[in-house]
Amino acid sequence: MDSTDIRKKFLNFFREKQHEIVPSAPMVVKNDPTLMFTNAGMNQFKDYFLGNKIATNKRIADTQKCLRVSGKQDDLDEVGIDTYHHTMFEMLGNWSFGDYFKLEAIAWAWELLTNEYVLEKDRLYVTYFGGDKKEGLEPDIETLAIWGKHINEDRILPFGKDYNFWEMGDAGPCGPCSEVHYDLRPEAERSVISGADLVNQDHPQVIEIWNLVFIQFNRLSSGSLEALPEKHVDTGLGLERLVRAIQGKQSNYHTDLFQPLLEKIGQLANISYGQSETTDVAMRVIADHIRALAFAISDGEMPSNNKAGYVIRRILRRAVRYGYTFLGFQEPVLFQLVPVLAKKMSDVFPELEQQQEFISKVIHEEETTFLRTLANGMGRFQKYIKQLKSKQTQVDGTFAFELYDTYGFPVDLTQLIARENNLDVDIMGFQKAMQLQKSRSRAAQDKDEGDWIKVSDGKQVKFVGYNELEASTRVLRYRKVQTKDKFHFQLVLDKTPFYAESGGQVGDKGVLIAGDIKIAVWDTKKENDLILHMVNELPVPIEQPVQARVDTARRTATENNHSATHLLHAALREVLGDHVQQRGSLVNDKMLRFDFSHFTKMTVAEIRAVEHIVN
Ligand code: SER
Repeated sequence: MDSTDIRKKFLNFFREKQHEIVPSAPMVVKNDPTLMFTNAGMNQFKDYFLGNKIATNKRIADTQKCLRVSGKQDDLDEVGIDTYHHTMFEMLGNWSFGDYFKLEAIAWAWELLTNEYVLEKDRLYVTYFGGDKKEGLEPDIETLAIWGKHINEDRILPFGKDYNFWEMGDAGPCGPCSEVHYDLRPEAERSVISGADLVNQDHPQVIEIWNLVFIQFNRLSSGSLEALPEKHVDTGLGLERLVRAIQGKQSNYHTDLFQPLLEKIGQLANISYGQSETTDVAMRVIADHIRALAFAISDGEMPSNNKAGYVIRRILRRAVRYGYTFLGFQEPVLFQLVPVLAKKMSDVFPELEQQQEFISKVIHEEETTFLRTLANGMGRFQKYIKQLKSKQTQVDGTFAFELYDTYGFPVDLTQLIARENNLDVDIMGFQKAMQLQKSRSRAAQDKDEGDWIKVSDGKQVKFVGYNELEASTRVLRYRKVQTKDKFHFQLVLDKTPFYAESGGQVGDKGVLIAGDIKIAVWDTKKENDLILHMVNELPVPIEQPVQARVDTARRTATENNHSATHLLHAALREVLGDHVQQRGSLVNDKMLRFDFSHFTKMTVAEIRAVEHIVN
């Protein structure tokens, strides 16, 4: 079976078990301030678990594009060094929202792995949650007993919270989990050391493939656990590892998912995979990172200097640096991998092929700019070396940090060049400078969100603001948000005419009228499906009815500008061609900005033509 068949089999299996198959959510997250990228299949269903939204179908399955490069789930440093972590990966998953629980989740996992994929039973191990005294949680003996029906007891292993209690982030839905591990070692090794001793030991051949999470709690921002009203199942089966297990390969990179990429990289560098560990690591880094880059760009995230855009830029730079240092790539090459990847993925993610030219172009430009920065850094480094006093044998830590911070030199590249000049690098000094910068940026970002305080019942937030700009409503819940030296409140209303910032359009401003007092709403934002109204004071008493009134003049002017973006989009397509796609926009009451994809700068005549059509 190749990766395409394996993916299909998973989806068909759960379709037959009455699951609705849904498409992957975008990998780039727009509506959840706690996440920049989708890091697990369950992200798009968070509201179902928390009870904010009712699932129309209680059983769902899909393959989700995930990226683990920030926040609680960050694997970036491992990627390429080892052979089984990735930045972007596909997570196959099946979900139950208050429907089936442990019994079925475990039975189906076993059936699929051993009957359908025919994995060898004596290479499989499973784990369960061994309890945690500090959290007041008992061992999950229910899971132990259910697994006992399928697999020998000596293959069912307890682990603590670090391994067997899954959490998406610092707050949110969570619960005990049970993992399935597979031992890919050759027979000779297996007969000497049992696989049971190698589970969760970072052994490259004894790897986790599937995680079955039994979502039962919500982690509050205070750190405590609150039981959820219903119990849910969230499973995540890593496609790349599964394919490797089924195909019996030494590493994820030996599977058909990565081979075409490694071949192309080998051609470009004129070497082959397996030649040396350093070139292999560099080839793996590039084969992995191109996937993260292409998918992120196709989902609308451009490399930039802030937030998610900066994460993408860092990934691209890591790939360029490995290529530059270890494979001799001094010219842009990554962009040439885009068609290879797009073809491999065309079955399940056609968006790559559709946007192939655009993605390649963006990557090519980033590579070019960064290679120039690297070359400038080289110049700076040469100058520094020339000025060194003859007795000095060490490159200063602060200078190594300048190279890192300003010119994007990883410290191993600095060390490599230092060695060529008979110098070494003050690593302690480098780390100190790095630490200093980290604590500076942490202090700048500190924001503390309190837990939600419920005022009255009600789950669904009705947005009535397409037709009405005023509504009688009430507060459902609120929380206090503390930033450096200020605080504000976020309110959720039962129904609201306030438009929350999205699709580039700014959030509404206006007032809440509670009895005699008027409370200014200074912004409206979305968190998943919740509409949050930002205010500096609360209505007293908080339970009273409030009148929510949008600033009409501001909204109308904003709407006009929003309409104008659509006119502009249509005009651009007419003048430049159908390849023009929206890449982002900013719309407020004073102006609009519209980002779009096109390959060259527009000419003055083209700009005039577009203006004419819009006017
Ligand atoms: N949420 C769990 C994980 O990411 C299972 O899907 O591992």
